[in-house]
Amino acid sequence: MARVANPGASLLPAKPKPLPLAAVRLKPSDYATAVEVNRGYLHRLDPDRFLHNFRKYAGLEPRAPIYGGWENDTIAGHTLGHYMTALVLTWQQTGDPECRRRADYIVDELAEAQAARGTGYVGALGRKRKDGTIVDGEEIFPEVMKGDIRSGGFDLNGSWSPLYTVHKLFAGLLDIHGAWGNPKALQVVTGLGGYFERVFAALDDAQMEKLLSCEYGGLNESYAVLYSRTNDKRWLKVAERLYDHRVLDPLVAGEDKLANFHANTQVPKLVGLARLHDLTGKPEQRNAATFFWKTVTQHHSYVIGGNADREYFSEPDSIANHITEQTCEHCNTYNMLKLTQQLYHWQPDGALFDFYERAHLNHVMSAQNPKTGGFTYMTPLMTGTKRGYSDPNDDPFWCCVGSGMESHAKHGEAIFWEGEGGLIVNLYIPAEAQWQTRGAQVALETSYPFEPGARLTLAALNKRGRFPIALRVPGWAGDTVQVTVNGQPVTPAIGNGYAVVDRRWKAGDVVAITFPLELRLESAPGDQNTVAVVRGPMVLAADLGAGEGEWQGADPAMVGEQPLAAFTPAQGRATYATKGLLRPADLTFVPFYSQYERRSAVYFKRFSEAGWKNEQVAFLAEQARVKDIAARSVDVMHLGEMQPERDHNLTSEISYPVSYRGRNGRDARSGGYFEFSMKTKPGPLVLQASYWGSERARDFDILVDNVKLATQHLENDQPGKFFDVEYPLPEALTKGKQSVKVKFVPHDRSSAGPVFGVRLFT
Ligand code: AHR
Ligand code: ZN
Repeated sequence: MARVANPGASLLPAKPKPLPLAAVRLKPSDYATAVEVNRGYLHRLDPDRFLHNFRKYAGLEPRAPIYGGWENDTIAGHTLGHYMTALVLTWQQTGDPECRRRADYIVDELAEAQAARGTGYVGALGRKRKDGTIVDGEEIFPEVMKGDIRSGGFDLNGSWSPLYTVHKLFAGLLDIHGAWGNPKALQVVTGLGGYFERVFAALDDAQMEKLLSCEYGGLNESYAVLYSRTNDKRWLKVAERLYDHRVLDPLVAGEDKLANFHANTQVPKLVGLARLHDLTGKPEQRNAATFFWKTVTQHHSYVIGGNADREYFSEPDSIANHITEQTCEHCNTYNMLKLTQQLYHWQPDGALFDFYERAHLNHVMSAQNPKTGGFTYMTPLMTGTKRGYSDPNDDPFWCCVGSGMESHAKHGEAIFWEGEGGLIVNLYIPAEAQWQTRGAQVALETSYPFEPGARLTLAALNKRGRFPIALRVPGWAGDTVQVTVNGQPVTPAIGNGYAVVDRRWKAGDVVAITFPLELRLESAPGDQNTVAVVRGPMVLAADLGAGEGEWQGADPAMVGEQPLAAFTPAQGRATYATKGLLRPADLTFVPFYSQYERRSAVYFKRFSEAGWKNEQVAFLAEQARVKDIAARSVDVMHLGEMQPERDHNLTSEISYPVSYRGRNGRDARSGGYFEFSMKTKPGPLVLQASYWGSERARDFDILVDNVKLATQHLENDQPGKFFDVEYPLPEALTKGKQSVKVKFVPHDRSSAGPVFGVRLFT
């Protein structure tokens, strides 16, 4: 390989924007397959079922039964928003006219429902009343306007993150308007914008901050876009007022206080701020977005580019302690990729696309099962786990099904960019595109990331002349890169993560790039000895087979001074066998993303030979202890976390989630309680609850199916650490039952813990 080192940054085309998705067509690859599988899924979905509540709550007859899962909860309507965007993207990516027809149909239906209500509001979200019935969620907004704002982070007066859902609807409508100028879409979104402008106008700043403590998605971005479409300053005012000081002020100040914040609640706020910066030029908006991106990608992200454990950020550089079955929610990465594009558009830098490529290939591509079209919620990185995909025939309509149907509609979106005067290739995905500025037709051929390199052909070029073509050189490729033009080696300018060839081009010219795709180890941020194996942009996983049930094997450990020397290519794409490296036994490494239905090991504890001898006894004993707890658990309740609390049907009064020292929990004040269901099993069981050991003067009762099990007094029991208390359950309490209700009730003038998790053991 030629070693080249010309400063090329100044040749990089400035102010880049992606070539429009409608100008890009994918050629055969796993990406093209993903788009086709997703297109089939979008076709099988029925818009009328998504529209059920929109019509019903507007007093119109629904045309089809409501969907199940989250669409039958108070967050109903979020999927329609994603569906509209996914239809737009698929139309742009493939030209499929049915997608456009459906999108226009949905707009017509929404316009009808909006007119029937007559307030500007249109929506499907619900509100759960005390008796458990779900009614039209619009009724919470007059309460909010009177200052009656009750939220524990995800719940607003009985509705699940309603402004998050409203944001999805805004985004879908704005995307339809943006794609082909459907005027009715703008009309509906403007009506909706006016309705919520009135809601927010009724609130003083303190009330607004309280409202914004409940997840609001990227509603600030939607108002910013509405302003850019209409030039009406009132929308800009609303967009800037949708600013959560608690989370955003530290980011403006360059402080990482993200630990214990819910990740996907925050990322869209920064996408919105970034969009606002484009319109206002305010530096603090850009600074916060940039600081957040750097902080999350460098200190809170796993090797596949995803972030968060059980949906929450932890302390910076601590992910090695959070390699669990609940890592990497897809929505977070879908939003981080949007943010990356924003940053790139301000200041093109190959490092941004190094992250983009990593997350796109290893996380997004792992999140759709191409056999079924189902989507993951989490991508678990704990050794021995495999992914759970939504069943497209019985769809749960999680948030990540919504973001999944968008992600897999737009794999051509960020491949080609044009800046002032030139072309940039950021992703090596087989595709062709019309580059209108130069009347050019470009084709990118590549088997990357399996083979090193790619070829770009200027199949047509109406406006010939001199201009730069910049090809991204990933950071991990080092400074060796080979570039040819029409088969002849050239010396490109190298800088900012690009090889730039600036010359007179003509139709038929071919520029090709090659860089090494070598294996390397990457450590988890903050822990040198927790490592993953990466080949070029691709994370490799040790294949642990396709078994069912819990993984019973030991976690493989990596032992030796020269781990990479132990890998030899084996049969299969990007496949390697190890020799003498892993304990207890060697394994085969394969691409992680395509482990759709198989178990993987991604992170390994690394030891020297001498270190392994010392560590292995303690290491194996600790693993056995953790496995034993997991194996004996009948049910686990992660208190203070939205999804587990929903899954366990938590109800509460005067109760709130807490987080402390990296652990989430829940508390209730006197007069209140929290109660949830837990699965049981025949035979004697033990209930275990976790508390913080420095708590003082806390008294509360624990009830099981309304029978008092114990009274707990907490008084500085184990200062400075968490500890567990076990409460044996009398068998009569669980006999013949599939589940029981566990309730924590504080005594007068006391509180119920907080409780940092509850388990039922055999
Ligand atoms: O609350 C709505 C979405 O559901 C959140 O953004 C996501 O993290 C969650 O699971
Ligand atoms: Zn999600």
